Amino acid sequence: MEITNSKENDEMLAWHDLRKMRYSWNVAQEVLRLMPPGLGAFREAITDFNYAGYIIPKGWKLHWIANATHKNPDYFSDPEKFDPSRFDGSGPTPYTFVPFGGGPRMCPGNEYARLAILVFMHNIVTNFRWEKLLPTEAVKSNPIPTPAKGFPVKLHPHKHKIGV
Ligand code: HEM
Repeated sequence: MEITNSKENDEMLAWHDLRKMRYSWNVAQEVLRLMPPGLGAFREAITDFNYAGYIIPKGWKLHWIANATHKNPDYFSDPEKFDPSRFDGSGPTPYTFVPFGGGPRMCPGNEYARLAILVFMHNIVTNFRWEKLLPTEAVKSNPIPTPAKGFPVKLHPHKHKIGV
């Protein structure tokens, strides 16, 4: 709302506006934590190692899963709770929040995805109120989590842009 208020009529969003959307990005990150769109990815063990009592030999192919790390209460207290404030301050311990993966093969589209998500959130919140038409709609994993019926909503344009 502060960003909308700072704009002249139809002035468009700019890169520096996105950098100010800290709370919106906290919300988006909390969604990415609870429902990571990417299941995980593959890696190869470059050395023998012991994980939770299991010996993983060098050369084995591994599949890491973001969801398991994101729900680990050692890193995210009360992990099922939707709490965007977890991302305040310095944020989670490195490699515990991995919706975009991590290390040299981390998703190269992550900054672009951030931009697209923030622009979408900003425009929908400032222009519309919406109603979920199927309040109990399930989320199916195929394997990407997707609303089972396509998430139909009814959009109600604000008479006046919020905040103006
Ligand atoms: C919310 C949106 C997105 C999510 C959650 C996501 C998630 C991921 C994940 C988990 C990986 C595997 C990373 C790893 O192995 O450590 C990945 C890889 C990749 N992503 Fe994304 N991604 C998103 C959007 C995008 C976009 C918008 C692009 C391109 C414009 C993109 C391009 C890629 C590419 C090329 C790779 C392979 C990188 C490599 O193996 O070196 N992604 N993404």
